[in-house]
Amino acid sequence: MKIISVVGARPNFMKVAPIHRAFQNLIQKNNSLNLKHMICHTGQHYDENMSKIFFNDLELPEPDFYLGVGSSSHAKQTAYIMIEFEKILLNEKPDLIIVVGDVNSTLACSLTAVKLGIKVAHVEAGLRSFDRSMPEEINRILTDSISDYLFVTEKSGLVNLKREGISDEKVFFVGNCMIDSLISYLPKLPELSDLSYNLLPKNYVLVTLHRPSNVDNPERLSELIDFINKISKYKKVIFPVHPRTRKAIENNSLPINDKSSIYLMNPLGYLEFITLMKHALFVVTDSGGIQEETTYLGIPCITLRTTTERPITVDVGTNYLIGEDLEYAFNICEEIFNGEKKIGKIPELWDGRAAERIVKILVEKFLNISR
Ligand code: UD1
Repeated sequence: MKIISVVGARPNFMKVAPIHRAFQNLIQKNNSLNLKHMICHTGQHYDENMSKIFFNDLELPEPDFYLGVGSSSHAKQTAYIMIEFEKILLNEKPDLIIVVGDVNSTLACSLTAVKLGIKVAHVEAGLRSFDRSMPEEINRILTDSISDYLFVTEKSGLVNLKREGISDEKVFFVGNCMIDSLISYLPKLPELSDLSYNLLPKNYVLVTLHRPSNVDNPERLSELIDFINKISKYKKVIFPVHPRTRKAIENNSLPINDKSSIYLMNPLGYLEFITLMKHALFVVTDSGGIQEETTYLGIPCITLRTTTERPITVDVGTNYLIGEDLEYAFNICEEIFNGEKKIGKIPELWDGRAAERIVKILVEKFLNISR
């Protein structure tokens, strides 16, 4: 049985790493098993600190295939990935491909595979923001509609897939591979004092922003920068800046507070970033995955979006979904400065074993064996 897992953009790497490890463990235990797991990197993200550093931090092997597609418009990026991935599939003839998350690489590769009659497994299926202006929402809906195996991280995903008419037999509630990575690296993190920022635990705020709805509109971005400047009057702000956001800040010459209160830096590697997240007083973000990681760690997360496809992080976890009102957002910050914060719980099956469950299900389906 030959399987190719696809990675493309930064949030994919930490989801595929535990899946790769689970396959390797299974192969080591059963050397009679005719199973090969390979990794294809589309190159959607290509900068050293958006890609390579994650392979190192997550102990992922060099990808077996690198498509080198880089950045372009959505249509071109999706099309380039499809053209290049089709060549790999025609050569390798895998039995199954695994795609994760909701980025353009996820949709492009699943669509290419299914048209060649190759089975598709989608990890992190069923999440819905119900906002079709998000490119990720389109990628999620389309990928789920053509996948053969849909692995769900939270129960809202089961409800969403049922409503869309996807047969129960294809759907498996397995937990969260991103949290598998977090759990396996928590004991191996550096100390906060090992990092070069001179920070004390719970005495700084970690910020990330990259959604087109926040950073591509100069007026909105300017309001967000004012908001971050305001936070920095109370606590130091650590702000690793996504390339899209950096370009937008520079193009619009937005004023950022003094370097001693806001540390702007290039995107960080996985281990450094989760160390900073673990010790932050709170996190301000518009990311999807960070809403989940903060919920697992019990760190308050102020999400600067109007919707979330991960409602469990609000219902059970430590996530505050703010909407557009930055005054309201600042009220929440003040509450946290004053020691009042949401106490969350860890969602069901976010136990570090999601990848193991996925691999077990796939191997049983394909090889008809049970371990
Ligand atoms: C992509 C995903 C988004 C995910 C995010 C994580 C889609 C539709 N979006 O958004 O869901 O949350 O990744 O970061 O797939 N760039 C670089 N270097 C890189 C990568 C990108 O400079 O290594 C720049 C390019 O100028 C590019 C821009 O960043 O145009 C945006 O990159 P792109 O991959 O198109 O989307 P993201 O905003 O990163």
